Amino acid sequence: MNRPNDSLLQRFEREFPKSRARHERARRVFPDGVTHDSRRLYPFPIYVTHACGSRKWDTDGHELIDYWGGHGALLLGHSPSEIVEAVRRQIALGTHFGACHELEVEWGEWVQRLIPCAERVRFTSSGTEATLMALRLARIHTGRPKILKFLGHFHGWHDAVMPGAYAPYDQVAVPGLPPEVSAQTVVIPPNDPALLEETLAGDLQIGAVIIEPTGGHWGRVPIRGEFLRELRRLTEKHGQVLIFDEVITGFRVHPGGAQAHYGVRPDLTTLAKILAGGLPGGAVAGRAEILAAIETRPGRSKMRHPGTYNANPLSAAAGVAALKQIASGQPCRRANEQAARLRSRLNQLFAERFPDWVAYGDFSFVHVMPGYRGPHPLGEAEVPCGGRLEELDTAPNPALLHAWRQALLLHGVDWFGFGAFVSAVHSDADLDFTVHAVGQAIESMKIEGLV
Ligand SMILES: Cc1ncc(COP(=O)(O)O)c(C=O)c1O
Repeated sequence: MNRPNDSLLQRFEREFPKSRARHERARRVFPDGVTHDSRRLYPFPIYVTHACGSRKWDTDGHELIDYWGGHGALLLGHSPSEIVEAVRRQIALGTHFGACHELEVEWGEWVQRLIPCAERVRFTSSGTEATLMALRLARIHTGRPKILKFLGHFHGWHDAVMPGAYAPYDQVAVPGLPPEVSAQTVVIPPNDPALLEETLAGDLQIGAVIIEPTGGHWGRVPIRGEFLRELRRLTEKHGQVLIFDEVITGFRVHPGGAQAHYGVRPDLTTLAKILAGGLPGGAVAGRAEILAAIETRPGRSKMRHPGTYNANPLSAAAGVAALKQIASGQPCRRANEQAARLRSRLNQLFAERFPDWVAYGDFSFVHVMPGYRGPHPLGEAEVPCGGRLEELDTAPNPALLHAWRQALLLHGVDWFGFGAFVSAVHSDADLDFTVHAVGQAIESMKIEGLV
């Protein structure tokens, strides 16, 4: 029961006692008590028991509308029946044959059919492994050691892609990375074609450019087609391999990813998440000539690529079931429409009651930003703060972030930090509920002087 003067924190602790108990145990096992950095929540995260469609349920019995969507993997929602059935069928037949199998071929063919640049495909076990592979392939292809990436763009957690992945961007040192390793990664702000040209022309050691094609952290600082076209032109001119990291955007923004939506064909693409229908899996797809480095060719050295769970039958079964549905285009369209509706409804709420908040985003991404000073309503295609990285992608204030998440959880919504993945199964009723919950959550934060 809520007592009127209880703080958010007190209410959160009282409402989620079983999650708290599990976290006490987890803290003795895991650093921070969690198994993924983003899942950390002060004073403890929630523990979830099951999920279905747009909902999940925690161990204290709360039903929550979920906007984590399996970290972006669940465009079709939790446990769609076709995927459950495909995985159930496969698990009875075997989870690992230590051999080639037909489903992996079918899965690869779906990638070829949907992703424009996919002349060849190689499966990995995660998105991190996919970007690791793409960059190594690019080095072999060009003979140049350095890569260029953009501030705020996340490509997994291996050494080459960590510099510039997280704000604040004036702190360039990454713990555990020797300076000579970091020096191989050149990092520049996005959306600046002149600086891009100057950097590519000025450093002939750069052999690859990797980008989140709709912008870092799924469009917190959006990138649009014009910059992608310029990037394609410049990498062709200066001889770099262009890698679109479509781990999030692949099969989400369009069945063929951002490259199909914007009509810009990269040399290589990295994929994961939706690719494997909610199970672990990743892939590199791209020009046959570049992936040929993995082939055994007389007189040529080979890029080794083992990996116990590459194209494992369970992920292949889930992946094929997911891609078959996505191929129609309907799930991407529906998720994009529902996200646009949510952004617009939230902005209506903000304009009426909380003018220093704004919602924005492209495709099925929704970002909210407190502390906004600017016009309401914002047009759907507009980016707040003129798209400036230093305003849109600052290191979040932890007290504010944790209070926002606690407040939303208390009102039945689980939001991924200040961002949300909308799926194809979020209903209009889910959106109504969410807008109401956001209003209530901000109200509680205001009472405590947090916003
Ligand atoms: C754009 C992007 N690339 C790569 C990765 C890494 O993928 P994984 O978590 O499967 O290693 C992520 C993960 O969120 C991502 O968002």
